[in-house]
Amino acid sequence: MNFHNHPIDLNPFTRVTIRTVKYYKKDIRLYCSLFFKYSFFRYPAFNYHYGKLRKNSMEKNTHNIALVTGATGGLGTAMCQKLQEDGFQVIANYRNAEKGQKWHEEQKAKGYNFAMAQGDVTDFEDVGRMMAEIKAQYGPISVLVNNAGITRDTPIWKMTLSQWQEVIHSNLDSVFNCTRHVIEDMIADQFGRIINISSVNGQRGQFGQTNYSAAKAGMHGYTKSLAMEVAKKGITVNTISPGYIGTDMVMAIREEVRNKIVEQIPMGRLGGTEEIAYLVSFLASEKAAYITGANYAINGGQHVY
Ligand code: CAA
Repeated sequence: MNFHNHPIDLNPFTRVTIRTVKYYKKDIRLYCSLFFKYSFFRYPAFNYHYGKLRKNSMEKNTHNIALVTGATGGLGTAMCQKLQEDGFQVIANYRNAEKGQKWHEEQKAKGYNFAMAQGDVTDFEDVGRMMAEIKAQYGPISVLVNNAGITRDTPIWKMTLSQWQEVIHSNLDSVFNCTRHVIEDMIADQFGRIINISSVNGQRGQFGQTNYSAAKAGMHGYTKSLAMEVAKKGITVNTISPGYIGTDMVMAIREEVRNKIVEQIPMGRLGGTEEIAYLVSFLASEKAAYITGANYAINGGQHVY
């Protein structure tokens, strides 16, 4: 190409650029060839890892049957939606038939198509029945999200035995009940992802929550021990500890009490349910294979340690 007598009337910048390129043509060619010869793109280790990463990010998870307990709550809903968007076949567990039915219809109207599994996670036998039905219909569960939980907040001097027990049964016993019925299939499959949804209040304590904090702290102790037991079997076990998220559970706190809590959060706001769901989906993926026994705090800086 004749740069000097270019037929198109180029602007001064383009003319200067073309002239510069022509002048330094040989040097540019040399720099380019040196770059490709010695750059890190050519290192075998880089190509190996980069190639693997790219390949993995393009692959769909093959172990994609995911059960979310307590799916009809705020966090559970966001988790189900995100997991389905990310290619998982989601089974949504619920306890109350009427609530479950209504929720299912709402989700369908939003374009989500979840399989539904009724079952009381506090009841070992009932969980066994539910898991057997799920397995018969969809195959073994690869991802278990232990999300179901309740609060019965009150200071210890007012707490009844049933308030204590209900919270321990729903938040902690449920984790054993569900895990116990899927773990053997996960071991046989040499793959599994167990994600336990704990709380910032299991990490730091909260006035009025001795029952809840005990259950949520216990959940992470469980995570750590189970993670060790199944580490060699392709199964990871992790805890997520959300802070105060904009769910019905948090909105049920008396307004003035809630406002005081929000004032203590460095980010000055409640978390979004989807901010928890993103991590659930990542931990559920095949890519998260080397993360186990961890406890992820997602609390807007409310508790740093
Ligand atoms: N620290 C110290 N003292 C406190 C206190 C606190 N944080 N909160 C209340 N008190 C004191 C009060 O000052 C009061 O003292 P006096 O009797 O001397 O006046 C006494 O304790 C009783 O307080 P209340 O009047 O508030 O008592 P209550 O029985 O009406 O309510 C409560 C108690 C239900 C626990 C209420 O304080 C509350 O709702 N607290 C918030 C609990 C909370 O954060 N729950 C989280 C729910 S969401 C969730 O759990 C999700 C998650 O994972 C984060």
